[in-house]
Amino acid sequence: MKTLNLDLAEKSYPIYIGQGLLSQGELLTKHINGKQVMIVTNTTVAPLYLEQVKSLLGEGDHQISQVILSDGEQYKTLDTVNLIFDALLENRFDRSCTLIALGGGVVGDMTGFAAASYQRGVNFIQIPTTLLSQVDSSVGGKTGVNHALGKNMIGAFHQPKCVVIDVDTLDTLDDRQYSAGMAEVIKYALLGNLDFLHYLQKNINELMARDKSMMIELVYQSCEDKANIVAQDELEVGKRALLNLGHTFGHAIENTLGYGNYLHGEAISVGMLMAVKLSQFEGYLSVDEVDQVQDLLEKSNLPISISGKIIASDFMAAMSVDKKVIDGNIRLILLKKLGDAFICNDYQDKLLNRVINDFCQ
Ligand code: NAD
Ligand code: GLY
Repeated sequence: MKTLNLDLAEKSYPIYIGQGLLSQGELLTKHINGKQVMIVTNTTVAPLYLEQVKSLLGEGDHQISQVILSDGEQYKTLDTVNLIFDALLENRFDRSCTLIALGGGVVGDMTGFAAASYQRGVNFIQIPTTLLSQVDSSVGGKTGVNHALGKNMIGAFHQPKCVVIDVDTLDTLDDRQYSAGMAEVIKYALLGNLDFLHYLQKNINELMARDKSMMIELVYQSCEDKANIVAQDELEVGKRALLNLGHTFGHAIENTLGYGNYLHGEAISVGMLMAVKLSQFEGYLSVDEVDQVQDLLEKSNLPISISGKIIASDFMAAMSVDKKVIDGNIRLILLKKLGDAFICNDYQDKLLNRVINDFCQ
């Protein structure tokens, strides 16, 4: 097992990464203070891992309850979070309780948000079970839900007590979801880690074949890159925005085509390529560098174009409902070079329009 620490003073926490971690109960129990534990999962993950996690906690030692949510990005709503509150209240959970998110990013974001707001904040633990949630969403304390008018628009920062990443859970994850996780991995490389980019380019075939020891390295490197940025800027007043490379474009794809059509990671794949193209049009990247990014995305079986029909003006309208918009200006994350991202406020509108028109049919 490898352990990383996300350094946030009194809110610091460990991220455990390895195989067989869902057999090691003490990783969970040492971060649980009270007796009441609510495991939040969904209809897909429950039959796979719920009993295993329950058995780790020991029924005698804890009052264990569970909520099994419907599966899907379309259920990432306040109504669904309310089901968690119902279960907490029906079972008379008090402020010493701990919520455990068992699942992908959708379960993790909603459980974290419930933990942030139940009785003004209770403990929670992340057990991410998709590649995307293991390399990104379980780390850093962003929690929340979608609104019909915008992705992740309702939420809170609330850090978990620990993150337990068992890469063995990826054995049951299908290839499309695995690829979606690779999009966020590639993001770290593009935004700030050229050595990691070269590693991914060299080893992409083995990584896509899910070589276990390489997967642990992949998750570790991704979490380390994210933890370093979050430690410097927990609340995204500055540098953390770099983690949104491709996201303003990607969220617009998700929002315009409807949640669930494109997986989040797939939308981010196309969104990153749009950001990379704009970086090229702005004169930062060469055609060869753009081709390198496209090649890596394609080898990860990720989309590089929008397959549904989106009208360019609708896309632009969706982009302007994004958390990166400040005083009406859409801030974008662009690349000065591969492995070197920056927050850009002064891109040329005509070049942004050219990118959007190129991608929207
Ligand atoms: P997801 O949670 O929808 O999971 C994808 C699918 O895989 C679901 O059907 C799920 O039930 C299933 N699944 C989960 N674990 C499985 C397993 N081990 N075996 C088989 N199937 C399994 O999607 P995701 O890609 O994990 O997360 C996407 C969400 O994460 C989006 O809502 C996105 O906004 C959010 N996100 C949040 C952050 C953050 O910092 N909080 C960062 C990135 C993404
Ligand atoms: N996924 C972006 C962030 O956590 O800041």
